Amino acid sequence: MASKPNSVITKAIFPVAGLGTRFLPATKAQPKEMLPVVDKPLIQYAVEEAYAAGVREMIFVTGRHKRPIEDHFDMTFELEIALEQAGKQELLEVVRSVKPDDMECVYVRQAQALGLGHAVLCGQRLVGNEPFAVLLADDLMVGPSGGSPVLKQMVEQFSEWRASILAVQEVPAEHTRRYGIVAGTAVNDHLVDVTRIVEKPAPEDAPSRLAVAGRYILTPGVFHEIANQPRGVGGEIQLTDGIAGLLRREKVFAYRYEGKRYDCGSKEGFLQANVELALAHPQLGAGFRDYLRSIEI
Ligand code: G1P
Repeated sequence: MASKPNSVITKAIFPVAGLGTRFLPATKAQPKEMLPVVDKPLIQYAVEEAYAAGVREMIFVTGRHKRPIEDHFDMTFELEIALEQAGKQELLEVVRSVKPDDMECVYVRQAQALGLGHAVLCGQRLVGNEPFAVLLADDLMVGPSGGSPVLKQMVEQFSEWRASILAVQEVPAEHTRRYGIVAGTAVNDHLVDVTRIVEKPAPEDAPSRLAVAGRYILTPGVFHEIANQPRGVGGEIQLTDGIAGLLRREKVFAYRYEGKRYDCGSKEGFLQANVELALAHPQLGAGFRDYLRSIEI
């Protein structure tokens, strides 16, 4: 069993059953969550963020062709023996650090791609009756330098308000169709008491330009909402609609996180993440900066 850290949020759901069609052909035979940004697969960034926020039970909602994710978070016995025998201690540490001893990984299959809300519902039995986090690995979140990672900031907000917390950022009006959009009353500079949430509205219908990024802390009441709602935008069972239902019974806050989001669900965002994280990389950064300066753009 995973040890219980002092954190109030100990479980996180990672919906990873998507087909990754936007990255074809790269994702023809491998999950998009395994695409590397610099030297780590996307999913590992999200798992590390959850771990840093105190989460110890990682719940992956997977589908067909997602075995590499399970393998990645499993022990690679032969590799570890080989590295040990070769005296490659540093690499051994890198391999072992992917899954710290007090972290537990569990997998549940989403047999049909019925939407993000449905994926989250697949984790209900494993989550039980406690608040939990949802992390979308497509959104690579980098906290402010020297500050807390985004989910940790959200856990701190949750500890204070004891209500669902959605990570939000301001987006240009022409991008509202890509996101869940919230509206509400400002509590302070960072927090909005949400009164409305709509999935992917057209700019003229959007209640604001505050868009939900792929990080959520939700109370278990959301499961009941998702289970009883009609299909939403795109014929899918939407998480946003479940949150809209929750709003009628409980407080939900939108939190303007500190840090940067890379939309690694798009090729542009994925390339930007690679460039910026390579520049920030302790070993690669300086050389890569020189290289970028040397090429003609
Ligand atoms: C999902 C959610 C959307 C949210 C977005 C964040 O959309 O449905 O509300 O704003 O993630 O990345 P998707 O990107 O899966 O279409």
